[in-house]
Amino acid sequence: MEGAFCMKGMSAKSMAVHIGSAERGSVTEPEVAPIYASAVFKFGSLEQVEDVWMGKSRGYVYSRMANPSVEAFEEAVDGLEGAAGTVAASSGMAATCISLDALLGRDERIVSASVLYGATRTLIEQDAARRGASAEFVDITDLEEVRTAMEPGARALFCESISNPLMEVADIPALASIAHAAGAFLVVDNTFATPMLMRPLELGADVVIHSCTKYINGHDDIMAGTVSVGGATSGGTGILAAIRNSRTLLGPVLSPFEAWLALRGIRTLGVRMEKHCGNAFALAMALKSSHKVTAVHYPGLDAADPLSAAARLLADGYGGMLSLNVDGGREVVDRMVKNLKLAAFVPSLGSCATTISHPASTSHRGLSEEEKARTGITDGLVRVSVGIEQERDIVSDFIGALEKL
Ligand SMILES: Cc1ncc(COP(=O)(O)O)c(C=O)c1O
Repeated sequence: MEGAFCMKGMSAKSMAVHIGSAERGSVTEPEVAPIYASAVFKFGSLEQVEDVWMGKSRGYVYSRMANPSVEAFEEAVDGLEGAAGTVAASSGMAATCISLDALLGRDERIVSASVLYGATRTLIEQDAARRGASAEFVDITDLEEVRTAMEPGARALFCESISNPLMEVADIPALASIAHAAGAFLVVDNTFATPMLMRPLELGADVVIHSCTKYINGHDDIMAGTVSVGGATSGGTGILAAIRNSRTLLGPVLSPFEAWLALRGIRTLGVRMEKHCGNAFALAMALKSSHKVTAVHYPGLDAADPLSAAARLLADGYGGMLSLNVDGGREVVDRMVKNLKLAAFVPSLGSCATTISHPASTSHRGLSEEEKARTGITDGLVRVSVGIEQERDIVSDFIGALEKL
């Protein structure tokens, strides 16, 4: 190898510090994007530093600024969301954090859906308070309430495309026109729908966030997040640069190993989502007819009404997430958890395996009792992430567990 030749005559101790790091130099390209596990890149001259830094030559400097493996993953999410640019981060929360950092200034106001992943809601509240901004929470399905809240000069409107844990589908085109009329950005967390079921930027949203820890990676073995900015977003280039700058300065970068795994996850996202959707629909129908269940929340059930947001906006399936209310509350849920055989209690979602969670004790435990009651996050609410196992095994696990209550 060239590297070893150059090091001829060097002591083994010095050689060990350098050997093996030379570029392979190949006329053929790897079929799969490699893992660039390098924190930093080598320069041949000061002139080259200047050119790369100023964007005159294409090159990398330091992996907190940009890394080729992370960029390959960003390019994939960017394409799937139809975005003008995507920034990856170390988790979904990190992605939300750098978005808020870039979008919300002192004395500004954010309006947000009240039904959201619990930590996102807490972050919006705390982040706004810390930077001297304010946050207001609204029922995102009540467009008049949203419009009224936006009117006195809000800077951003935040919602989930399918809400955690009640599976309400946000009317993105209507929310985008309300936000834009008020001069604000619409920011959508698209974690539950994934770009396979909804592409919010094409429906008028400005910024799309993912917890790629969930469906995009799909195997419960990494944490990752992304923020994508739309091509039609007013001042989009500046927003994208501000988000990238927040990541570089605050430092919540995605590691190249995790980026590589997340990109591998994307290869099967389409087939996984198809299976998740089919299984979830079947389970929702079965749960609906159980006398132990008082309510089932699933966009596929709302879609019976052709005017519903679910029917209009989710053309390729209604998602793999549903929630149900069991008759009897906390103690009955505990028995149900113990009765289930296939579905484990795992406070996350979006993996291949069917899992359940209890929002009141996990993802939404930070909410006050009053807020939980107001938003319908009761002690009897169970959230199900329906996996890709065979439909009849999933359905019989749940129906069997409910019948034994
Ligand atoms: C809808 C939604 N958004 C964001 C997050 C946060 O993502 P992460 O856990 O990757 O930080 C979660 C986590 O459960 C979530 O459910």
